[in-house]
Amino acid sequence: MGVITEVADLKRIYRRRVPKMFYDYAESGSWSEQTFRENTSDFDAIRLRQRIAVDMAGRSTATQMVGEDVAMPVALAPVGLLGMQSADGEIKAAKAAEKFGVPFTLSTMSICSIEDVAENTSKPFWFQVYTLKDNDFMGRLMQRAKDAKCSALVITVDLQVLGQRHKDLKNGLSAPPKLTAASIANMMTKIPWGLEMLGTKRRFFGNIVGHAQGVTDPSSLSSWTAEAFDPSLDWDRIKELMDMWGGKVILKGILDVEDAVKAAELGADAIIVSNHGGRQLDGALSSIRMLEPIVQAVGDKVEVWMDSGIRSGQDILKARALGAKGTMIGRAYVYGLGAKGEAGVTDTLNVLHKELDLSMALCGRRNIEDVDRDILLVPERFAGNYT
Ligand code: GLV
Repeated sequence: MGVITEVADLKRIYRRRVPKMFYDYAESGSWSEQTFRENTSDFDAIRLRQRIAVDMAGRSTATQMVGEDVAMPVALAPVGLLGMQSADGEIKAAKAAEKFGVPFTLSTMSICSIEDVAENTSKPFWFQVYTLKDNDFMGRLMQRAKDAKCSALVITVDLQVLGQRHKDLKNGLSAPPKLTAASIANMMTKIPWGLEMLGTKRRFFGNIVGHAQGVTDPSSLSSWTAEAFDPSLDWDRIKELMDMWGGKVILKGILDVEDAVKAAELGADAIIVSNHGGRQLDGALSSIRMLEPIVQAVGDKVEVWMDSGIRSGQDILKARALGAKGTMIGRAYVYGLGAKGEAGVTDTLNVLHKELDLSMALCGRRNIEDVDRDILLVPERFAGNYT
C-alpha cells in the first residue's frame, strides 16, 4: 500500500477499493460543483506567516469542543452510508475517533444503528438528526440516542430539500438503490470490498428500517425518504427539536450572518458554518469565506465551528486562526475508512494532527489556544466581499 504521508494517499487507495457509486456519493458536490471546489481552493488562497526563533518545545493541540476534551479541534462529521464504504464502517470510524480522542458523530442515515455503535464503543459519541416531519420518529430517535448515552445532538439545518448531485442519479444511488448495469458491473470488480460486505449483516439503514413508521424492509425506504424531510421547517420547529433533546445541541449548516444571529439567540451550544460539503446550494460561498463574518457577529455568544473543505492540518490551523473553535471533517476520514477501515481513519487523524502540530510550530505558536488571526495572510477582500 505504500507509506501514508497525506490524506491524498488514502484517497487514491479508497478510489481503487470501493465501488464507484459509493466513491462518487462521497466525492460529489451538487450541480456544477463550484461550491464543492471552492471549499478547498479558498483554503489554498489563505497563506500562513512563517515565524522563527520562537520557543516551540512542548506543544499542544488539545482543546475543548462543547465542553468535551479533544486531542485537536476536530470532530468526525455525520456522513451517511459509512457502512457501504467499509463493512460496519460506522463502528470502525467511531473506534478510531475514540482511540485518538476526538468526537465521532453518527448520522441518522448510517448503516450501523445507534445501538450497534454504542455496543462497540466505550465513550459517548454524538448523534445527528435531520429536521424530519415525523415527530414520533424524531422522539424515538432521540430517546435511543439518550439511551445510548450520546453526549450531544447535531441537528442538520440545511437539508429541508435535497440538492441535486448528478452522479448519484446517474449511478442509481437512491433509497433503495436502483442499481444500473454499469454500477453492478463495477461492484463485481471490487472483490476485497465485496467479500468484506458479505461478512456483515449490516447492509441497510440501521436507524430507519424497522424503526420508522411503515419502513419494515429496505424496499419501503423510497416512499419514506420522499416524505420524511420537512420543507416547511422554520425556527420554531428547530427550537422544538432542541427542547425535545434537552441536552447539548450543535446546529450544523449555517452560512449566513443573519441565520447565525438567530441560531445564537435560540441558545445552541455550537453552530457549524457549513455548506454541507458543497452538496446543497451550488453557488454558495465556501465555508471558510463565511467563517470570519459569522465569528465577528456571534463568536462571543456561541461556539462557532466550521466544516466543508478540510483536507489537511494546515486547513484546520487556518480555520482556527479565523475564529473556529472547532472543525468537522467528512471526506478526509471517509477516504481513510474506504481505503483501510479503522486503521485508515486512524491514519487520517494522525496525518492531520502531524500537519496541524508542525505547521502551528512553524507559525511560532506552541499551543492551539494561542493560534489567532495574526498567523495568517488573507487576501484582501477575502471575506464578505460579495454584496
Ligand atoms: C446527506 O446529508 C448527504 O449529503 O448525502
